[in-house]
Amino acid sequence: RQQRRGYHEKVLDHYNNPRNVGSMKKTDEDVGTGLVGAPACGDVMKLQIRVDKDSNKIRDVVFKTFGCGSAIASSSYLTELVRGMTLEEAGKIKNTDVAKELCLPPVKLHCSMLAEDAIKSAISDYYLKNPNSRTTDLSGT
Ligand code: FES
Ligand code: FES
Repeated sequence: RQQRRGYHEKVLDHYNNPRNVGSMKKTDEDVGTGLVGAPACGDVMKLQIRVDKDSNKIRDVVFKTFGCGSAIASSSYLTELVRGMTLEEAGKIKNTDVAKELCLPPVKLHCSMLAEDAIKSAISDYYLKNPNSRTTDLSGT
């Protein structure tokens, strides 16, 4: 069995071909915007979701980051993960899920934290703009 050296190839793939890089109109009613920074290094990430009102599911998701390769890979992977999820499901994603999938080394854990913070912040922003959406989705428990 070969020793793993450096980064996992999934990181490199997402770094070289980041998915869903882009920007949405912040003022759109169905868009939630998360803008967060990592205190550890000063990197910044913006992540935006477009939500389907009826199903409370994420229809579309884009990100932009002034961050390192692991931050780019984390957010790229996260956008693929959350597309189609309900806001409740997406809000439960942990940075460790992302870090595990990408095999991030411990010093790069905070990079995946940036992705978790960004999706949480985007969800909060959406709820702030659409205060009634929360109640509709929690009905079916
Ligand atoms: Fe180097 Fe984040 S510390 S890009
Ligand atoms: Fe700071 Fe990656 S986000 S080093």
